[in-house]
Amino acid sequence: NNHFAGQSFLKEIDFTPAELTYLIDFALHLKALKVQHIPHPYLQGKNIALLFEKTSTRTRSAFTVAANDLGAHPEFLGQNDIQLGRKESVGDTGKVLGSMFDGIEFRGFDQATVETLAQTSGVPVWNGLTDDWHPTQMIADFMTLKAHFGHLAGLTLTYVGDGRNNMANSLLVTSAMLGVNIHIGAPKDLQPADAVVKIAKDYAATSGSDILITADPKQAVAGADALYTDVWVSMGEQVDYGNRIKALLPFQINADLVAGTGKTGTIIMHCLPALHDHQTELGAKLGTQFALPAFEVTDDVFNSEQAVVFEEAANRMPAIKAIMAATLGELFIPDSLFA
Ligand code: CP
Ligand code: NVA
Repeated sequence: NNHFAGQSFLKEIDFTPAELTYLIDFALHLKALKVQHIPHPYLQGKNIALLFEKTSTRTRSAFTVAANDLGAHPEFLGQNDIQLGRKESVGDTGKVLGSMFDGIEFRGFDQATVETLAQTSGVPVWNGLTDDWHPTQMIADFMTLKAHFGHLAGLTLTYVGDGRNNMANSLLVTSAMLGVNIHIGAPKDLQPADAVVKIAKDYAATSGSDILITADPKQAVAGADALYTDVWVSMGEQVDYGNRIKALLPFQINADLVAGTGKTGTIIMHCLPALHDHQTELGAKLGTQFALPAFEVTDDVFNSEQAVVFEEAANRMPAIKAIMAATLGELFIPDSLFA
């Protein structure tokens, strides 16, 4: 039998810390198999739907390539391609897709949508990012941390920036689950919601993870093994960019903030896409509009040896492959591993 068979991955806490650890290790294993050209067709003949209400480079590519490598057929169903949300309810869409597809990825706004798809489709549903959580990113990021440091428990991860977005939520809870100390540096009104902090604290009581949430960037970064940030305005967020930049500039990852860790081997992380220069349309616009530097990470730090951001991006593929294979594949993963 397979312990994960038929399960959805809607948020990190759908799995136990031991199960998340298994998926991280499985992802590292699948990454090695691909490097060695060893086939791993765990999803031979399966059909996978890829639903996207928001845009994506990494998640869409990772699901597509992972599905192909596993022997499955992915089908992209974008915001403007299907009836979802405008002409048809989420529940009806779930029933229809579940009658044809063996598994469904969903990226979009409401967490409730991905939860409803899981309830109505009867097949595994994987959350490719909602406003609340980004769980497949966590498997890739903790894979990256484990590959770099050799272990997870006892590391200190500092996230600075928008502390209320999907990435902050996911990093806070996943760190607490896996025994990684988690520091969040953000202004008061951009700190994580009480409900998310409570989830994290409950896990931390068992894992031994230290949680620090502070409006002082210097205090947040002290002792960090990894410094993490994300865009200051997330997809679909309607806020005044100028005010957001003003509030978050003290939390920008620049050479000074990196020096503030007091460590030499600190790695720099970002889920991407990142704003760090003027090459993008938005970057150019913000550059003209505001006194620079107006981005969440400076160019020098983003391009430094310490940055592992493209390794994180590459790890999305084997991470998603592990999640799909475990929940949908013909594998032997005994329950006794998690007893
Ligand atoms: N990190 C991430 O989810 O990237 P995309 O938005 O490009 O999928
Ligand atoms: N917080 C970002 C993450 C992108 C991967 C967003 O939701 O836009």
